[in-house]
Amino acid sequence: MEPVISISKLSKTYASGFEALKNINLDIHRGEIFALLGPNGAGKTTLINIICGIVNPSRGAILVDGHDIISEYRATRSLIGLVPQELTTDSFETVWATCTFSRGLFGKPRNPEYIEMILRTLSLWDKKDDKIMTLSGGMKRRVMIAKALSHEPQILFLDEPTAGVDVELRREMWQMVRSLRESGATIILTTHYINEAEEMADRIGVILGGEILLVEDKNELMRKLGKKQLTLQLHDKLDEVPVELTDYGLKLTPDGNELVYTYDTQAGRMDIAALLAGLDEAGIKFKDLQTKQSSLEEIFVDLLKERQ
Ligand SMILES: Nc1ncnc2c1ncn2[C@@H]1O[C@H](COP(=O)(O)OP(=O)(O)OP(=O)(O)O)[C@@H](O)[C@H]1O
Ligand SMILES: [Mg+2]
Repeated sequence: MEPVISISKLSKTYASGFEALKNINLDIHRGEIFALLGPNGAGKTTLINIICGIVNPSRGAILVDGHDIISEYRATRSLIGLVPQELTTDSFETVWATCTFSRGLFGKPRNPEYIEMILRTLSLWDKKDDKIMTLSGGMKRRVMIAKALSHEPQILFLDEPTAGVDVELRREMWQMVRSLRESGATIILTTHYINEAEEMADRIGVILGGEILLVEDKNELMRKLGKKQLTLQLHDKLDEVPVELTDYGLKLTPDGNELVYTYDTQAGRMDIAALLAGLDEAGIKFKDLQTKQSSLEEIFVDLLKERQ
C-alpha cells in the first residue's frame, strides 16, 4: 500500500548552522500508530514541524497522501491535525470559538454537532464558553487536541501530548487515539513515557542526533532486542555459582537464595533446557521460578547507551 507520508533524503540546517536532521528517509503507513522516540534535542519536533509546514526543510522531499508539502501546502495541511509540544493558548477566545474558527480556517463547512462531539469526548463541554486563558494547563492541552481535531484530519500528530497531563486525561486521550485509528486515521506521536509507546504504537522509530537509528514493528523490536530474565528461588542456599555452570553467566543474589539468568529472547529456549539439566546434574534444586521480559523502555535505554 502507498504510504500516507513519504519522507526522502530530508535534512534540516537551522539558520544558526545547526544540523538538526540528517538525511531522513521514512515512510508512515496509512492507519498506523507510529511512535517517534528519542532524547531531548534529537530532532522529533523539527521533523514534525517540517511535515506540518511550520519549519522549512533544507533538502529533501515529503509527500503527504501523494501531495508535495511545499508545492501543494494547502492540500497537505488540510489532511493534518497537529497538537504542538508548546502550548499556544494565551487566548482571550472561548473554547468553542477557537475550535469553530480553526475548522473554518481549513475550509471545512460548519458542523456544530461534530465540534460538540469532540468537546464532550474531551470533557470540555462545560468549559465551552470559557476563555482559554482562564483554563488550567491540562485543560488547555485538551483544547489544543480539540482544535487539532476540529477539521477532521486524516493524520494526527501528537508532539508529547501527555507531558504534564493527569492520569485520567492520559487514559481518555489514548482511548480517543485508539478510536481515531479505528476510524481510519493515522497517528504519529512522540513521548518520553516509553511505556505509552509500548502500549499504543504499532511501529517505533528511534531518532538520535538528527538521524533515524531504527524503524521497526513494535512487537518485532521487542522480540529482537528484548532480554528475558529467569529467576530461580533455590531450595538450599548457595555460596557460589558451580563452575560447570559458569558459561551461562548466572548471577547469585547476595543472600545466596536466588540464581538469575539473563538471555535474549531469540536464543532463549534451548539454553534454558540445557541450564535446567545442568542444575539438575549439579544437584541444585529450586522451589520456584519466574521469568520477566524487558520493557520497551529498557530496550530504548540500552540502544541509546550503545550509541554514546
Ligand atoms: N529555531 C531553531 N534554531 C536553531 N536550532 C534549533 C531551532 N529549533 C530547534 N533547534 C535545535 O535542533 C535540535 C532538535 O530540536 P527539536 O526540538 O527538534 O528536538 P526534540 O527531539 O523535539 O527534543 P525534545 O524531546 O526536547 O522536545 C536541538 O538541538 C535544538 O536546539
Ligand atoms: Mg520536541
